[in-house]
Amino acid sequence: MAMNSEKIPENTQKLLKKHNQSHLLRFWEQLDKNQRQNLLARINQLDFPKIDRWIADIVKNPSPTPLPADFAPAPAYPPAPADAQQARKYAQASDLGRNLISNGKVAAFVVAGGQGTRLGFEGPKGDFPVSPIKNKTLFRIFAESVTAASKKYHTPCPWYIMTSPVNHDQTIEIFRKNDYFGLDRKNVFLFQQGTLPNFDFDGNILLSGKSTIACSPDGHGGSLKALYESGAIADMKKRRIEFISYFQVDNPLINIFDPLFIGLHALDKAEMSSKALTKTGPAEKVGNFCLVDDKITVIEYSDLPDELAKKRNPDGSLVFELGSIAIHIINTDFIEKLNAEDFQLPLHRAVKKISCIDQHGNLIEPQQPNGIKLESFVFDALPLASKSIILQTRRSEEFSPLKNATGIDSSESAAKMMIARAADWLESAGVTIPRKPDGSPDCIIEIAPAFALEKDDIKTKLDRIPKISPGDKICLE
Ligand code: UD1
Repeated sequence: MAMNSEKIPENTQKLLKKHNQSHLLRFWEQLDKNQRQNLLARINQLDFPKIDRWIADIVKNPSPTPLPADFAPAPAYPPAPADAQQARKYAQASDLGRNLISNGKVAAFVVAGGQGTRLGFEGPKGDFPVSPIKNKTLFRIFAESVTAASKKYHTPCPWYIMTSPVNHDQTIEIFRKNDYFGLDRKNVFLFQQGTLPNFDFDGNILLSGKSTIACSPDGHGGSLKALYESGAIADMKKRRIEFISYFQVDNPLINIFDPLFIGLHALDKAEMSSKALTKTGPAEKVGNFCLVDDKITVIEYSDLPDELAKKRNPDGSLVFELGSIAIHIINTDFIEKLNAEDFQLPLHRAVKKISCIDQHGNLIEPQQPNGIKLESFVFDALPLASKSIILQTRRSEEFSPLKNATGIDSSESAAKMMIARAADWLESAGVTIPRKPDGSPDCIIEIAPAFALEKDDIKTKLDRIPKISPGDKICLE
């Protein structure tokens, strides 16, 4: 044990005392010089007046998010145009979207800083193999989509990837090992999000070691700061990128460069827009798109009262039927504007099992939740946008999140949905698909992004598609 007579700086001691966090230096006498310096540096980074407010308002308050006094379901563009006028607008938007992509105005952006605890997979979730035949990982599928979009639109499509201290080095290593999945390295930008300290239920900041503070990623909402602070926005500005296509690392069905969505967003002069799905039922665990004071706002499923979640229209549909699937277009200007001031998205409270040391310095791996993590959510920026639109989409086309090891939203369900979507795309181009009595494809099909990024791409490749018989395994690349 390193003993060192150096005193705790008086100002730090005072600061911690004032904010009731003196225990952070409990093991000072046992630390070596380096550990002391690191701990002091970390403490100096913390904004204690803010932390005091978080403790009072969120950490010690089990229901910190009051429901708005008045809200209504949010309006949305339907998946297909409802009438001739809307059909014209969709056509115009798709053209505009294609132009914007071709002119290099759109970047891909994936948030991949989460811990993926539910999946039980060691390592970054993007490294999870998911495609039904080739076992391509999520990162590979996204990279191939970016490459295919660059080819299709004859322009480099840069890809920004947000990691966190939890998985940054491992993610870099995955990209390095895979030679950046064939992408040009100068069009791939990896950066880390920020972290926030973890607390016990009384508001004490937890220590993960004698000289280290327990911290966790600050939520996907942290991306709006991290994009700016990492230099990613400056890099985008240099490349004249105006629109960021935001998606989560867990969705292999994502259509990253969707001309219709990008075009509607741009035509309507929106600053941040979203895709939505009709919820599977009142209890589906997705945020609800609502209108609060005329602003599009997501109300978390856990905050929407049961009777409202279950409320139905005369035609039987849910009143609050639009679920958030974490797909957005965000303007680079909007992010710059937010960061011009010290903006702070609301912090949400998550009760978690947090590994930490006790007052004797012994490591605790708790079996029961023992503390609070704070996170901000990107959709909380929607009401800050001067204008925001929602485009409703089809689940089978665009959403199959990988959350759990088995069952709903697992790798098995994602592979099934990838096959089902491939079969639908081929069928819509006139290819005969053998089907089982329950309607599901009686074959395994994988379509690589290089073959088709969207349904319409199939039509130009019909000569490369073999006859498909029951039980066949077909990979189109
Ligand atoms: C989230 C959304 C939910 C949406 C669902 C769609 C919230 C609160 N809920 O649920 O409305 O329907 O996705 O799949 O967001 N991430 C970071 N840094 C972090 C935390 C998360 O980059 O600090 C990333 C993860 O890597 C992942 C994404 O954000 O790509 C979502 O994280 P996750 O915790 O899986 O979200 P859910 O709670 O499942």
